[in-house]
Amino acid sequence: KRLILIGPPGSGKGTQSPIIKEDYCLCHLATGDMLRAAVAAKTPLGIKAKEAMDKGELVSDDLVVGIIDEAMKKPSCQKGFILDGFPRTVVQAQKLDEMLQKQGTKVDKVLNFAIDDSILEERITGRWIHPSSGRSYHTKFAPPKVPGVDDVTGEPLIQRKDDTAAVLKSRLEAFHKQTEPVIDYYGSKGILANLHAEKPPKEVTTEVHKVLS
Ligand code: AP5
Ligand code: ZN
Repeated sequence: KRLILIGPPGSGKGTQSPIIKEDYCLCHLATGDMLRAAVAAKTPLGIKAKEAMDKGELVSDDLVVGIIDEAMKKPSCQKGFILDGFPRTVVQAQKLDEMLQKQGTKVDKVLNFAIDDSILEERITGRWIHPSSGRSYHTKFAPPKVPGVDDVTGEPLIQRKDDTAAVLKSRLEAFHKQTEPVIDYYGSKGILANLHAEKPPKEVTTEVHKVLS
């Protein structure tokens, strides 16, 4: 399966991705995770991306299309993939179509994590992540067994630099202006499925399974 997860910050894309990945044996490509790794490693890509990310703005289409093009060549992605946080502009969506067309494949389904903006601040400001695995927790909705510590590795959890109420405002603005048109783009292709992303995580997983079965 070739899937796209689309939705505003905190809508649950990164929470559902590892579950979908296991259930359907797909690779998980999250442009946000890849960019954060590049920023932490201070690579040329990371240096270019950091400023926009800190402000909650989108990184340039060329940079993210380049990362995805490279990442999709991995052998683990040949059977299928989950794109989490990409495409986020109509230009990115068109570039993705071109890339897949060259391989003789196409996107099967786009899962739209539909949710009201008002729920997102609590989700974003309570999130703690394990940077190397991308696992995320929430102080209230998904607490780790030991506060501040990853369940699997025992390593410390951190908060994302852009997970503040102020930066969330810019991220939401970017979502409404630049990413909502991408939802319409896939809607007109007839491959869009809308999820009730405000429900508890397990219920969202059930909806995902229904859509994909
Ligand atoms: P990115 O990392 O993609 O961030 P985002 O889209 O803002 O999404 P989030 O990761 O914040 O939300 P999520 O939906 O994954 O939520 P999660 O499941 O963790 O992008 C970051 C930046 O990188 C962008 O701002 C941009 O600068 C750049 N970038 C990335 N891709 C780009 C692209 N294609 N083009 C240009 N720039 C790009 O959940 C959040 C919290 O809520 C967690 O704590 C979780 O435990 C909790 N939670 C999850 N589901 C539920 C639920 N159902 N009920 C209760 N709590 C829940
Ligand atoms: Zn995420």
